[in-house]
Amino acid sequence: METLIAYATKYGATEKAAKILAEKIEGPVTLMNLKEKSREPLDLTKFDVIAVGGSIYAGGIQKEVQDFCSENEEIFLTKKLGLFLCCGNEELAEDQLTKSFSGKLLDRADAKGYFGYEFDFEKMGFLIKLIVKKISKVNESKFRINEENIKAFAEALN
Ligand SMILES: Cc1cc2nc3c(=O)[nH]c(=O)nc-3n(C[C@H](O)[C@H](O)[C@H](O)COP(=O)(O)O)c2cc1C
Repeated sequence: METLIAYATKYGATEKAAKILAEKIEGPVTLMNLKEKSREPLDLTKFDVIAVGGSIYAGGIQKEVQDFCSENEEIFLTKKLGLFLCCGNEELAEDQLTKSFSGKLLDRADAKGYFGYEFDFEKMGFLIKLIVKKISKVNESKFRINEENIKAFAEALN
């Protein structure tokens, strides 16, 4: 069983979660950062399992994730499929998942996961920090990647 984990990340939280997931998946795993423009095109048909995810900004998942899913929906529907996201507001995670992926993919998915979040103030500029403090009421870095959820997601795909 060969697995692809495709993700988009801004400050690295989703990448960290994707790497933890890769360690928990059985068999060979390819990690693909959807924001890396120079990446080699991949033959998606060769994978048995595909997991796709990103993070939520201002209520939406990255465009790279949306495009990747809509361009390859027909292929994804033939695979064992996992959909995941990171977002700061855990209570809205389920809602965000529904908004981030098409109904067809959500219906077909073998695993749907909320992988937690990080607010890493060291990596944010002044303005973004201000916005986060105001909107999310977070005043210092927080690292809340949810390993339990990642484990359950991996088990559903293994
Ligand atoms: C400017 C900004 C806007 C955000 N907007 C949302 C949001 O609308 N809803 C939410 O649940 N989380 C929001 N978050 C939290 C991110 O989704 C969270 O920090 C996530 O872990 C980022 O993952 P990444 O580093 O992989 O991009 C926001 C974070 C920042 C910095």
